[in-house]
Parts: sequence; structure tokens; C-alpha cells
Amino acid sequence: MLTVMKANFDVQQIRKDFPILKQEVNGRQLIYLDNAATSQKPQVVIDAINRYYKEQNANVHRGVHFLSQLATREYDDARVKVQRFINAAESHEIIFTRGTTESINLVAYSYGRKFVREGDEIIISAMEHHSNIVPWQILCEQTGAKLRVIPINDDGELLIDEFALMLNPRVKLVAVAHLSNALGTLNPVKRIIELAHSHDIPVLLDGAQAAPHLKIDVRDLDCDFYAFSGHKMCGPTGIGVLYGKSELLNMMPPFMGGGDMIASVTFEKTTYNVLPAKFEAGTPHIEGAIVLGVAIDYLNSVGLDRVAAYEHELLGYATEVIGAIPGIKIIGTAREKASVLSFTLDGIHPHDMGTILDQEGIAIRAGHHCAQPVMKRFGIPATARASFAFYNTREEIDALAEGIQKAVEVFNG
Ligand code: ALA
Repeated sequence: MLTVMKANFDVQQIRKDFPILKQEVNGRQLIYLDNAATSQKPQVVIDAINRYYKEQNANVHRGVHFLSQLATREYDDARVKVQRFINAAESHEIIFTRGTTESINLVAYSYGRKFVREGDEIIISAMEHHSNIVPWQILCEQTGAKLRVIPINDDGELLIDEFALMLNPRVKLVAVAHLSNALGTLNPVKRIIELAHSHDIPVLLDGAQAAPHLKIDVRDLDCDFYAFSGHKMCGPTGIGVLYGKSELLNMMPPFMGGGDMIASVTFEKTTYNVLPAKFEAGTPHIEGAIVLGVAIDYLNSVGLDRVAAYEHELLGYATEVIGAIPGIKIIGTAREKASVLSFTLDGIHPHDMGTILDQEGIAIRAGHHCAQPVMKRFGIPATARASFAFYNTREEIDALAEGIQKAVEVFNG
């Protein structure tokens, strides 16, 4: 039997915070199950975007005037909110980026240029998103380093014993997903970090999927880098975070050159600013950072522990209900999972499934989920993927099951 939903989690009350959930799509009540692609935004976040441009807009770190100082204060406060959200030791260990992709590219270029040479190795896993594959491939092409891949089993779990055997002095970085966007696997990242650190190898976690669903504590994890995006956690698009231990960030060269990242510039020589400015060239996404701070306040008010518990229950229910439909194959059956249910159905292409569900007002994602190698590992071109957030309900999962049954009738009936 599934555990009973946490009694103090009033999902109907929470849904009222998200105006978009009230709308109809194709004449049906919207059921939004594409949260791994992007989350919806609560009214407080929408209002904060409006407020920023009505009352706070100015460039940061550049003006003595009132508005510039206000925007600077809000921007810097947002960094402290992110620091506390992931329990980083220092606010200057928080670098604002455009998102997870840019955060990982920053490390690949900056750390990679400094520390990776021909014959070195970078370890990723078989379940990575393209954004945690391609930057490392580019680095390897440019340096002559080698990309190595931790294999997974048929449930979509990393083979940790094999990983342990891959560690050697040539490995310069391990970069793995905390939570897989395609399979929903929650990786044993603490163990991965312990093993890598026993060989003095730093670890980057791609936290794009984990940060919206779990309480992240970078000091407890002891990861060296942690990357995540604002838009998947109720914040705006175009803003994300790279956490890095200051010891490492201080050793790394700038990623991009421009305003704000310098201490002094002459044509002969430029010296660089201290952290975090060294990695934030140009006018940043000021509104994005400030509103990400508001999204964090909102998530804190809901409580990440409660979010995780509720979503765990929801995923368990979905796995039971959807998994019971004849012909369904769940892709990703790891013991530890969160928020993602990927599946295929005999005789129906995932894109057709997505289109039929859309007619019912149900939004899922169909495709390779920017993780083609893991699709190949399972011998499939694509899956249909329902991904959940704390504002989803059991009734929506029941509607998804009915929608899938309809697709079966259309194609196989
Ligand atoms: N990476 C996002 C997803 O999994 C876009 O859908």
C-alpha cells in the first residue's frame, strides 16, 4: 500500500498560487505534467517581475544613484538567498548564470582550460542530459582528454562498483546528474563524491532536476560544483546558478571577459575582480536573480521537505496507476527516484501519445529529453514523460491514465 499523503499538505490551497493552472487547453482543464522541462510560476513570482520593472530597475554595481543602489542591494540579497537555499558556506560561491547549461559550460571552459590536459580523463554517466555531455566532449576534443562513461543497469541505476574502478590519477573531474531528467533516477551522489574525493578528484553535480524537488545541502554533499536553473523551480527563465567551492573558483580563470569582472584594465594587462564578479561579465540578469530570490522565498514557505514527501507519494501513485495499464513499459525503475515517470506503450509512438494527451488538455513531454545516449541504452528512440510538481494531484494522474487509455483505443482499438 502507498503511504498516505502528508496530512498538512493542502495541494488545493497551493494550486491557487499558480494562475496558469486555472486555464483551459483544448476545451479541457489544463493538466500540466511537464515540470521537468519547466515549472509554472506562482503569483508572487509574476508580481515580483512586474515590481522589479516598475520600481527597482537600474544597472547594478555601477551607479551611486538611488535606483542603482536599490537594484544592487536586491541583487546581492538574492545571492544570499541562494547561498542559504543550498547551504553554501559563502555568498561569493554563488555565481549567477543563464542556467544549468551555462553553469556546466563555465566549469568545462574555465576549470577545463586550467586543469585538463592531453591524456586526462573526465567521467560522466550514461544517463546525462546533453548539457552534461557536450561541454565535456568539446573540452576533450580541444585538449586531447578522454571522456569516460559510468554504465547503468536496466533499472537505470549507476553501477557504482564500476565507477570505483574507473577512478585513477588521470581523472580530472567527475560530472553527474543528481536526478536524471529522462529516467527519474536519484543518484547516490554522496557515495560518488566520497569515492571521487578519496582520489582527490572534484565532482560537479548537475542539479537542474534535483534543486526543485529536494533540499540541497552542498556542504553536506561536499560537492565541488553544483549547477541548477531558476525556471525549473518556480523562477524566471534565463537565470541559473553555479555553486563552486571558493578554493576552486579562485584558482579558475574567467569564463567571459567584459564589464564588472575586472579589477583594472590597461591595453597591456587586465587584472580580474574577486568572486563572484570574476565570473559575471557584463550586465547580469538582474531581474532574473532578484525574482529567483522571490521563488526561493516561496519554495521555503511551502517547505522543500514537504514538497519532497508529497511528490514522492505522487510518483508512487503514478507508477502504480500508469504502470498497471496493459502494454505500458516504465523506463527508469530505480529504487531511488523522484518526480519523473518515463514510459513507452506498445504500438504508440510517444509523440502520438503526447498529441492525443494534449487534446485532453494534458501536457507531457515526448521525445529523447535531450538525453539521446540513455535512450540508446534502452534501445528506444523516445519516451513519453510525465513529470510532477508539488501542485499536481492524484486526480490529474487519474486523468493521465484515462488519456493513455484513450490513446490505446485510438491506435490499438
Ligand atoms: N532538460 C529539460 C527537460 O528534461 C528541458 O525537459
